[in-house]
Amino acid sequence: MSKVRVFRCRICGDPYIGTDAPTRCPFCGAVTEYFVMAEDWNPNEFNVELSDVARADLEAALKLELDNTAFYSCAVDAAKEAGDEYGLAKFKALKKVENEHASSICKFLKIDKPSLESVPCSSEFKANSQEGWEREDRAIKAYTKFRDETTEERLKEFFGALVEIEKDHLDLHAENLEE
Ligand SMILES: [Fe+2]
Ligand SMILES: [Fe+2]
Repeated sequence: MSKVRVFRCRICGDPYIGTDAPTRCPFCGAVTEYFVMAEDWNPNEFNVELSDVARADLEAALKLELDNTAFYSCAVDAAKEAGDEYGLAKFKALKKVENEHASSICKFLKIDKPSLESVPCSSEFKANSQEGWEREDRAIKAYTKFRDETTEERLKEFFGALVEIEKDHLDLHAENLEE
């Protein structure tokens, strides 16, 4: 029988208890490769000397994540209103993940997380999935650019992980739009 252990995700910093690292971080969606044993955690993971470009990229990423969190939050309420349990589960998970991304970015920027502004959405699941797809597509394009232009290895890794995670979300929306 395998032993229960504590892991930590290097993309969000959150701890996870299990016999193995998960295939996706339950908090930020990062893949297994980003998990380390809690004993091996590097406390300076979010202490990066930021260039002006890196700071501007992180600030732009924070805006996107907060905006997407607020959008998914609206979509959760719309699903609730419609009695749509699947939509509720899906948008709630997306809201939590995007909110976690905003938190991680604030750790790099050394700032408190700004409060959410409200963002409108549709009352329909498909329309919200379509807008979600467009939002993920924009995020992927922005993070790909940030990943490629940053000179800090740790930020390259961070933005690269966000690209992978948002691709999961894009695929999920695409599947739901086909159904
Ligand atoms: Fe994570
Ligand atoms: Fe995100």
